[in-house]
Amino acid sequence: MPEPIEALDRLLDRRVLVLTGKGGVGKSSVTAALAALAARRGKRVLACEVNANDRLPALLGAPPAGPSLAELRPNLWSVDVRPHEAMLEYAQMKLHLPAIVRAVFENRLMRYFLRAIPSLAEVVILGKILFHAREREGERPRFDLVLVDAPATGHALALLRVPEVVGAAVPPGALADDMRWMRALLEDPAQTAINLVSLPEEMPVNETFQLERALRDVGLPLGVCFLNGVWPHRFAPGELDQLPPRPPWTEVRAAVSHLEARADLALSEAGRLRRGTDLPVIELPYLFDAPFGPPAIERLSLLLEGKLGVAA
Ligand SMILES: Nc1ncnc2c1ncn2[C@@H]1O[C@H](COP(=O)(O)OP(=O)(O)OP(=O)(O)O)[C@@H](O)[C@H]1O
Ligand SMILES: [Mg+2]
Repeated sequence: MPEPIEALDRLLDRRVLVLTGKGGVGKSSVTAALAALAARRGKRVLACEVNANDRLPALLGAPPAGPSLAELRPNLWSVDVRPHEAMLEYAQMKLHLPAIVRAVFENRLMRYFLRAIPSLAEVVILGKILFHAREREGERPRFDLVLVDAPATGHALALLRVPEVVGAAVPPGALADDMRWMRALLEDPAQTAINLVSLPEEMPVNETFQLERALRDVGLPLGVCFLNGVWPHRFAPGELDQLPPRPPWTEVRAAVSHLEARADLALSEAGRLRRGTDLPVIELPYLFDAPFGPPAIERLSLLLEGKLGVAA
């Protein structure tokens, strides 16, 4: 399958891009790289993370954003959406009585009950994110693109299904209305794409297949699959055999063979992923940066940009 150039171009035209996948596959890294890319191309971008302690600003080389929107660099804002603060914001927006809302929400017993109500945290988290996706500044949208560094697989599915599940359970009224517009926005393929992040390893690839199926089953629009951390082959076949058959070269050969085996695995798992998914697969290499920080994110972002077609 050729590199999905149009797929990535089209992706950036959406209003909401969600990234999810197994824990530790690189969701935050790819979100940060995409955010940097879109901002560089002139889009006003909001990168949201969910209760993740400001991982995105750190990856982008900026101070923590916290639960309020912070501008990390020109065109790029970030926010760590935390349930308690999001709940307070939602209540204030609906009730227009900030002092009373604060008094109720700051009450310890009330906080306990709020935590105990199923889905309430998800409702306000998703509500805040999608509110910003629809927010307007005068004639135009406040943000062109809202990126969501979503939680890992199961939690992300629960979060994304909230409008459907809660919408079906609540009586007509303000909450039901909110669930309706949130669902319409999330399920509209012209505005939203749910993207999977994976690694070229057995378990992440299996989980990607399961997640793709689950998302399809609930009717959420899919975008692309980012295959992150693809190990490169460093040597041509037979090249290592030219090392002298004596120490220390025997040890060097054993160590390098181990790395080449990892690259073999990456190649075969990448093939398995491409055969098993209907989504365009966008590969990103494993970067040997230690520590893995803002310079690595900039490189990932430039690599993604290289996969775009004609500049917008
Ligand atoms: N392309 C890459 N090359 C090398 N290392 C990478 C790459 N992408 C991510 N990493 C490293 O992998 C680890 C996990 O990355 P990241 O935090 O982006 O994953 P995540 O899916 O957001 O994790 P979590 O599920 O914990 O939120 C990090 O330590 C990061 O440094
Ligand atoms: Mg993360």
